[in-house]
Amino acid sequence: MAIRLGDDAPDFTADSTQGPISLHDYLGDGWGILFSHPKDYTPVCTTELGRVAALKPEFEKRGCKVLGLSVDGLKDHEGWSKDIEETQGTALNFPLLADPERKVADLYDMIHPNELNNLTVRSVFVIGPDKKVKLTLTYPASTGRNFDEILRVLDSLQLTANHKVATPVDWKHGDDVIIVPTLSDDEAKERFPGGWKTVKPYLRVTKQPG
Ligand code: BEZ
Repeated sequence: MAIRLGDDAPDFTADSTQGPISLHDYLGDGWGILFSHPKDYTPVCTTELGRVAALKPEFEKRGCKVLGLSVDGLKDHEGWSKDIEETQGTALNFPLLADPERKVADLYDMIHPNELNNLTVRSVFVIGPDKKVKLTLTYPASTGRNFDEILRVLDSLQLTANHKVATPVDWKHGDDVIIVPTLSDDEAKERFPGGWKTVKPYLRVTKQPG
């Protein structure tokens, strides 16, 4: 059964390059990103994992832990991580789950047999501090993900979790935001004392709240 937005992120314990990990304990009270890649020692995956390692300080700034996964074993992960460091210039600095029995891959429905036979596709699950799934993405093996976009969406998820706003198309941290339509003008006056611009009654634009 597919995991949908708002579902509890299923917990599991699995081996990783940093020892056994239980998902919910690992995430603690913070945010998390669980992402799969199809296979070790493959070109696109090598670039993706190098990029996530380089962006780790950005995820940390946002209180978000990252956790990779493929259906390869620990020995492969350890050998391949040397290639990642050599070719991408950043050592693997976050845990990579080893899932040769496909327990986590099946739990998270990361194997799409019509796309890739018995290998995980490029899945992304953003998990909130309440352990609920806040975002899912699925990319095919042939297309590497854009992890700057994943940071952007994390900024939006964290902002909209704490304020009665939504973020418009192509929004980036610091840009103006939209007051949620369920908030009346009277309620909005209290929450947004700096005011807003009414483009349409349902489209009220204001500065990004702190
Ligand atoms: C890659 O990471 O390059 C890749 C992995 C599996 C299938 C195709 C490409």
